[in-house]
Amino acid sequence: MPRSAIAEMRTGLRNKIVSLAGTINGLMAALNPFIWDRPLDDPAKIVGMDAFAQQVALTLKGQTNVALFGPRDTGKTTFTNQLALELGRDHGPDAPAFDVVKINLQRVVSIPGFIGCVHDALSAHPDRHLRRSAQRQFEALEKEIGFDIKVIKGSVKSVARTTEQDAEALHAQLVSMRKLSNHLVVIFDEFQRLAHCPGDPLAVIRSALMSSGANHVSLLFTGSIRTVLQMMLEDSSQPLFGEAAQLQLPVIGRIEFLEYLEFQFQATSKPAEEAALEHLLNLTAAHPRRTQQLAWECWNETRPGRPVQLQTVIDAHNDLVQTIERSEFSAMLDLLISGDDGEVNEVRALQMLADRGGQKLTSRPLVARYGFSSAARIKPTLLRLQRRGLIDEHRGVWRIVDPFFEEWLRRSSPLADTYPE
Ligand SMILES: Nc1ncnc2c1ncn2[C@@H]1O[C@H](COP(=O)(O)OP(=O)(O)OP(=O)(O)O)[C@@H](O)[C@H]1O
Ligand SMILES: [Mg+2]
Repeated sequence: MPRSAIAEMRTGLRNKIVSLAGTINGLMAALNPFIWDRPLDDPAKIVGMDAFAQQVALTLKGQTNVALFGPRDTGKTTFTNQLALELGRDHGPDAPAFDVVKINLQRVVSIPGFIGCVHDALSAHPDRHLRRSAQRQFEALEKEIGFDIKVIKGSVKSVARTTEQDAEALHAQLVSMRKLSNHLVVIFDEFQRLAHCPGDPLAVIRSALMSSGANHVSLLFTGSIRTVLQMMLEDSSQPLFGEAAQLQLPVIGRIEFLEYLEFQFQATSKPAEEAALEHLLNLTAAHPRRTQQLAWECWNETRPGRPVQLQTVIDAHNDLVQTIERSEFSAMLDLLISGDDGEVNEVRALQMLADRGGQKLTSRPLVARYGFSSAARIKPTLLRLQRRGLIDEHRGVWRIVDPFFEEWLRRSSPLADTYPE
């Protein structure tokens, strides 16, 4: 064989090895692209919120406060991340870039807890300058009014403080926060928690962040329990009555979600069959967290280079529905079923919704079959479940918010499919 032919063979072989190594590397390096255990912060992974983020950003920059409702796990916190990016953009001379402080009220049940959350939000703020000026403000407060976060958080022993003193400290802290920027949006995530907080935190917010010295501050309140959030803003005896435009977090369009999933599976060398994707979204009704979780599970169950098939989705879904057995949902159901009449009614209503869907719920045979003492019990029961964030109503139709919980209930219901309508 001539030398040149051998050299050519060698080069060809080397190229093949290099390209094979690249493919193997690519396959090994691909990480599961789906996230379901925490809010998303990478804007490239946030589906379908661009237009809404812009709308809300402009509303806030126009000095209108916004209350945003969205059921559990449907993407409120994720949305606030996208919104913060949008607020940081310059939208013209009337709407320059805004600074954003995000305060997570998820676990707040007292004013000192609220103060701790504000402190945490500022001391972990991504903007270094803002973080440092917050520190300086707090030091100044310490000198001025003896505000000491270590005392408030309880890590240092102190004489008992009164609720009024705590409310004053919160007020001072919020006033100093508003001085941090000339254009500021404060986001209160899970705002409805404050409904049960003693010491009138809403009045403190109103006086510190909505009074004459705070024209440069706009507020966003998010909440997952619609009725509670509404009560805080629509009841004329509440300090924040009528102070915010109420918006609903939009659902992610099915096609948009489908295209996103298709792209992510493809890009990580596990292309999904059309039927698999369609079925995945049918099973989750495009519920954001559950869709991502099911996609995550399907991805894990598929070998690199292999397609995600319909059966993959069916199996993964079965596995996930079974996990409800050990979740907070079933723990709550156990509590309800051994509770008083009102609570047992909640179990009845959940089963009825899971089995029959959310229409015509007061028909007489249904009422008797599920053990309600009368049809009049159903409406108040649905409202109780709504206050727990388990069900929601849209255009007169009630539904269970979490599609896996719903499926688990249906599978374990003694009455499902027994009596065709
Ligand atoms: N815009 C989105 N695009 C794609 N997936 C999303 C989007 N928003 C939320 N998700 C999915 O839903 C999950 C929950 O999102 P997030 O924590 O933002 O919801 P939440 O409404 O704040 O929940 P909670 O009520 O528990 O506070 C995320 O981990 C992600 O999987
Ligand atoms: Mg959240």
